[in-house]
Amino acid sequence: MEEKDVGQSRAGQGTAMELPNESVNEDEVSEFVTLRPKVLDEYIGQTEVIEALSITIQAALQRKEPPDHILFHGPPGLGKTTLAHIVAEEMGVDITTSSGPALERGGDLLGILTHLDKGNVLFIDEIHRLPKVVEEFLYPAMEDFAVDFVFDKGVHARSHRYRLEHFVLIGATTRAGLLSAPLRERFGIFRTLDFYSDQELVEIAKRSAALLDVPIDIDGSYEIARRSRGTPRIANRLLKRVRDYAQVRGSGVIDRETVKQALELEGVDEKGLSILDRKYLKTIIDFYKGGPVGIEAIAATLQEESDTLVDVVEPYLLNTGFLTRTSAGRKVTEKTYHHFGLAMQKGLFDT
Ligand code: ADE
Repeated sequence: MEEKDVGQSRAGQGTAMELPNESVNEDEVSEFVTLRPKVLDEYIGQTEVIEALSITIQAALQRKEPPDHILFHGPPGLGKTTLAHIVAEEMGVDITTSSGPALERGGDLLGILTHLDKGNVLFIDEIHRLPKVVEEFLYPAMEDFAVDFVFDKGVHARSHRYRLEHFVLIGATTRAGLLSAPLRERFGIFRTLDFYSDQELVEIAKRSAALLDVPIDIDGSYEIARRSRGTPRIANRLLKRVRDYAQVRGSGVIDRETVKQALELEGVDEKGLSILDRKYLKTIIDFYKGGPVGIEAIAATLQEESDTLVDVVEPYLLNTGFLTRTSAGRKVTEKTYHHFGLAMQKGLFDT
């Protein structure tokens, strides 16, 4: 089946390879080619999502009609893009991919929509970042498979209704809350992806190691799994770094000791926290007495985008109890102090 990428790279995020729609680094490109599962049977984890998708796909194939539009929600690296490709593959249709920020004008979307054949999948990543004018084109496209396009302005304005084929929109978002209600309501299927268990990540690391043809023992795969922040994309990235290390410094086999040494060099600690995770937590401790503190203050101190912190850093820290969110702001926990070998500071008014 054919795959098309539509849209532009985001400004300032040039990549070594010419892939138009997204910022893609070398790891992601090669992961895409070799490591991502291509069909449902190869997919490890997200069992409920996979079962529900499998039923949707089988039912649609039996009826010989496209499934409803699908929205995947969850932190980066958990498989939203992979699942969109799997749906297209299992349905036996072409997929066109783009992303919210790449679609700047209604015309960009119109061009894509009018080229879709019946049943084709249109995948829009980061759909919460779609400009409002483009989003409004999507409503009739999703609901009535038609778009009204207005040419010229003022007295010369002419409107033309384009009929579209019955396509399937698959949206992915890290922030379902930022999606407007009219857009959210037009998806018949809404699925949230959760962090993967260590055992699932062990299976993923073993599968990927086999695909990369690199020997790994059970302790090595477990050590990678538990340092991967519950995220297959990170497991695969770490696996590649450990593979390099094993090849150059080790015996070529990935075992526990090799993983420990390699990941120390990568700045990944025992619990899988990255350099940015630790900087984030230490900022709250060192500058804000453990919190509560607002996200904008943390972002300013760290000189990072608050969106990056909210989308990429916080979900895992919240999930693993290194961080809590209260109405007054973000707070670290006793577990965080313990992780850094610090004593918890009691505030004057804490009980
Ligand atoms: N590679 C990345 N994600 C995966 C998954 N969920 N199952 C199998 N291999 C993967």
